[in-house]
Amino acid sequence: MKMGYVLAGILLAAIGGQVLAEPSTQVAWTPETLKFVRNGDPEKGKAIAESCDACHAATPENAESEFPYLQGQTATYLYKQLHDYRSGSRSNEIMVGISAGLSDQDMADVSAWYSRQPPPPAKKEEEVPDRIRKLVDRGDGARIIPPCSVCHGRAGESQVLDTPVLAAQKAAYLEQTMLAYKSEARHNDIYKRMRLIVQQLSDDEIKQLARYYAGLER
Ligand code: HEC
Ligand code: HEC
Repeated sequence: MKMGYVLAGILLAAIGGQVLAEPSTQVAWTPETLKFVRNGDPEKGKAIAESCDACHAATPENAESEFPYLQGQTATYLYKQLHDYRSGSRSNEIMVGISAGLSDQDMADVSAWYSRQPPPPAKKEEEVPDRIRKLVDRGDGARIIPPCSVCHGRAGESQVLDTPVLAAQKAAYLEQTMLAYKSEARHNDIYKRMRLIVQQLSDDEIKQLARYYAGLER
């Protein structure tokens, strides 16, 4: 574990100044913003979520779709993503359109609602190879890849403020969004934390990591 923090430190130091020049998001986690998100009203959020559930509900019908689960995700992560779609920091035709109709308050409210919903079921496939578990728990010093667990938690439960829960997320979504970081089509990760990591991973490792997390209970 300690090694993980060291590696993460090296990674952050290595990428230092250059990326600060161009902000990848307009969300800054000041105490005010944090308080604002934490005070989101889940009951108001519930009404908004009725228009989201066509795609995001954790129903068996939706299980095979590419739409990510939002249930049990952290409110801070959800809020940042909605804000990023609206500001153009993260692109996706559907979500950019939808977020345009949401105020900051709506975003805090709907994030509060989804973060409190029961988690989706994990979808466990066959065991992933040991080398994938190693990437998660220990990283790879040779490629300067910190362990995923340093930021995402040992069980994919989210460890650091703005990192998402990965456990039980759909494998297809996890894979396509990591590939999007790799090609920089997705570039809303502050300090390039995810882009620098996945650019060191092969497409097969990305696929296996996605399957690994999809199989963990949230
Ligand atoms: C027509 C289908 C559709 C509807 C309706 C919809 N979404 Fe989405 N949503 C998507 C898709 C597709 C993605 C993945 C986009 C991408 O890859 O960037 C997504 C992604 C997201 C994400 C990012 C999740 C993550 O793990 O990064 C959030 C947050 C989100 N939607 C919230 C909402 C909210 C809140 C609403 C309702 C106000 C909503 N969505 C309505 C299709 C939809
Ligand atoms: C230094 C911290 C850090 C490490 C280490 C890290 N991540 Fe992340 N990860 C983040 C942050 C922060 C985000 C959210 C960025 C954003 O706002 O788009 C993220 C987002 C993601 C997402 C997008 C989830 C979604 O719902 O869209 C995936 C998938 C992911 N990480 C997988 C991994 C895997 C697999 C590893 C290990 C190989 C890893 N991460 C290592 C910090 C980290």
